[in-house]
Amino acid sequence: MSREDVALGLDRARARTLELTAFDDRELTTQHSPLMSPLVWDLAHIGQQEELWLLRGGADAAPSLLPPGVEQLYNAFEHPRAERVTLPLLPPAEARAFLTEIRGRVLDGLDRAGDDLFAPLMVEQHEQQHVETMLATHQLRTGDPILGPGSELPPGRLLPEDEWVLVPAGPFVLGVDATDEPAALDNERPAHVVDLPSFRIGRVPVTNAQWQRFVDDGGYRESRWWSGRGWAHRLEAGLERPLFWTPDGARRRFGIVEAVPPDEPVQHICFFEAEAYAAWAGARLPTEQEWEKACTWDPRLGARRRWPWGTSAPDSRVANVGGAALRPAPVGAYPAGASAYGVEQLIGDVWEWTSSDFRPWPGFAPMIYRDYSAPFFGGDYKVLRGGSWAVDGAAIRPSFRNWDHPIRRQIFSGVRLARDADV
Ligand code: AVJ
Ligand code: FE
Repeated sequence: MSREDVALGLDRARARTLELTAFDDRELTTQHSPLMSPLVWDLAHIGQQEELWLLRGGADAAPSLLPPGVEQLYNAFEHPRAERVTLPLLPPAEARAFLTEIRGRVLDGLDRAGDDLFAPLMVEQHEQQHVETMLATHQLRTGDPILGPGSELPPGRLLPEDEWVLVPAGPFVLGVDATDEPAALDNERPAHVVDLPSFRIGRVPVTNAQWQRFVDDGGYRESRWWSGRGWAHRLEAGLERPLFWTPDGARRRFGIVEAVPPDEPVQHICFFEAEAYAAWAGARLPTEQEWEKACTWDPRLGARRRWPWGTSAPDSRVANVGGAALRPAPVGAYPAGASAYGVEQLIGDVWEWTSSDFRPWPGFAPMIYRDYSAPFFGGDYKVLRGGSWAVDGAAIRPSFRNWDHPIRRQIFSGVRLARDADV
């Protein structure tokens, strides 16, 4: 990884940011949902974080281009998303000028940077994470489409219903070290050996057609499939189908109303729905340890693969990432992206809920951005793995751990089933 590569990655992130915010001021300053910030908040927050980590060495006390009262508007811990629209935020033109100014200084500094490129890689990923967040905001927005229908995807292929892949018992290496994965964030480290009993995992994620059968079978009406908390939430929130499905069998996707594609992985389900579906299907959710073993372990070599398919970075032959498609690819679309065990579509398409709570790996040490992970360990969060169609290839890895509240479903979340090997 060279400085030129890092600069290209930062450029790619910025092009996406500008593309998702290339709209009039009203579009950017409107709050499209209480779950999300107005887009103009994400825009300036991206620059504020870049300045903090790359120009101010992470020191709040170091001078900023923004006056202190303005800078603190972009502190995510101080201002919940629902309230950000009421703050005296920078108008879009000023936010863009701030981003440009900061980026110019960052690229100048990169020429003089030493060998440790972790901070800019972290900032690149931070921007890409907010790009995904902004896509979720776009999806919640009502009105005519402004992003278009999305790019072409490879066709799916016919797979046996309910195809399970057996992962035999045995130790594997969970997590990574910075020497092997220089962009890995703190919660992915360190690499350590974990022994797992054998288990089975779905070859592909659960599809819309499968989910429709759960709906038709009354899955949302029968408490027996749901956990206590899950059923209470299902009643309170009035859940009846995935978010953005309409009662007449269509779905709304970035302002386009279309038939629900049967072979696409289901998305916009919360953890509680994923758990209920799994119970109805006679299965369970994978733990994140199981998920990572199925994704990355090569049992013949007794070593991790960098990606499920090998060493090359994700491209359109092996995975649906990068956001251009604006939707998941049909199941079976990426046989060349299979892991050593033969599990497919682990990277990209939909984030996969796991049964795991978000906790540190043994030996965890916070990175420079100390509050990225640590404040969330032990909270009411479930881990999601693998990334969605909306993630950039630079912001996802087999070791990457995402987390969210179990009720969240505006994210691009789906599910892959698991079961014990002896059932
Ligand atoms: C890793 C997606 C849970 O959006 O809350 C962005 C990423 N952290 N800015 C989030 C993040 C700070 C984070 N997730
Ligand atoms: Fe952020």
